[in-house]
Amino acid sequence: MERSSRFKGFHKLSMEARLERVVQWAKLDSVERDILAKHFGFTLETADRMIENALGIFPFGLGIAPNFRINGRDYLIPMCIEEPSVIAAASNAARYLRFEQGIRSKAQPPRMIGQIQLFGISNPDRFKRQILLQKQELLQVANNLPSRLIQLGGGAKDIEVRDFSHASPPFLVLHILVDTKDAMGANAVNSICENLAPYLEQKFQIKAGLKILSNLCTHRLVRASGKIPLHWLHENPRKAEKIAHAVELASRFAEEDPYRAVTHNKGIMNGIDALLIALGQDWRAVEAAAHAHASQKGKYTALATWRLQKNKGFLEGNIEIPLPVGTVGGITGVHPTVKVNQKILNVSSAQELAQIAAAVGLAQNLAAIFALSTEGIQRGHMQLHSRNIAASIGAQGPEIDKVAQLMVAQGTIHLQGAQEILSHLRKKQNGTHLRQRS
Ligand code: MEV
Repeated sequence: MERSSRFKGFHKLSMEARLERVVQWAKLDSVERDILAKHFGFTLETADRMIENALGIFPFGLGIAPNFRINGRDYLIPMCIEEPSVIAAASNAARYLRFEQGIRSKAQPPRMIGQIQLFGISNPDRFKRQILLQKQELLQVANNLPSRLIQLGGGAKDIEVRDFSHASPPFLVLHILVDTKDAMGANAVNSICENLAPYLEQKFQIKAGLKILSNLCTHRLVRASGKIPLHWLHENPRKAEKIAHAVELASRFAEEDPYRAVTHNKGIMNGIDALLIALGQDWRAVEAAAHAHASQKGKYTALATWRLQKNKGFLEGNIEIPLPVGTVGGITGVHPTVKVNQKILNVSSAQELAQIAAAVGLAQNLAAIFALSTEGIQRGHMQLHSRNIAASIGAQGPEIDKVAQLMVAQGTIHLQGAQEILSHLRKKQNGTHLRQRS
């Protein structure tokens, strides 16, 4: 039987109990368990190998968003983020998006674009014709590299020419479409570009400029959609419809107004980036691609949209987003926690990872605009932030939870409130000590 990721009350468990649940669910061995529990594995040497001028390690919290059902499969989503409430929100929204097969998500086959800038072409139209005629030969040259990706059947698959002869000085750009298989593909694409450029220079007596991948991933789109039966939103049909309508209005706000759309999309990226970081991905590449895609039609707009389908009895959401991600290459094979997270996510291809990321983005967006269009975002957010506030004013150990709970209970979730509560608690504590001693 399929495992269910619907973990009721997961957030109420102790950290240890949560870990045990995930260890069992994902069948982690004791080494993998220790990598999570004792952050074994990522050493100073790893850091020194990975980046330059390394001095140390910068840890983040790693959490799990349960409840996700995507394309009929259940997933636990590893998420790494500094912002409280993101993981809670994603887990909560995922519960609503479990109808039938859950979130439906489909990714295009992974195709990245490499660009070679070309100068000195006197007749662009003739050059374009020549390139098209000699495409197969050029693809062969481009793929003549000792690359695992190419051995596996990936590599340069098509060539297009783009004309910028109106520019000063005029230039053309050769686009190489690369099948990146399960890699994000940046290194492979850059190598292919650098490999082909000298051949083009020699063959056509021209000069190559930049040779680099494009982060405008027009061929790596993922579309995901989710449906929530209205009666899941509220047992009272009128109230359920009211909620769904409010979510639709929030969506339309972002679809129309770029000022709102950027925030709407930032919320989407809260979820996607948290997953990408946990999975060792180049989240800056995804950020760049996502926001460029949001403005592809000439106006910056919402990446995800929601509609009340009154006749069908659903609230329905859709997202379209480019997701250049990989399950091999980059740091996926060298970062110990990333490897464990891959096992928890149980993801077998870059396309599947992209599908999951889009689904997480859709759920994250639902959580945000649901909260915004009902009770507002701050109450829940500040409750979850209260422990950070308590820690930031010097509360220690069990004081942190006490101060946080009292701030929430008294409605004083701010620095001053926390300070007053802490000094009151400590005075009380000192009084007790004194009485005990005397
Ligand atoms: C906060 O990190 C993200 C939100 O602002 C997103 C949104 O407004 O949709 C809550």
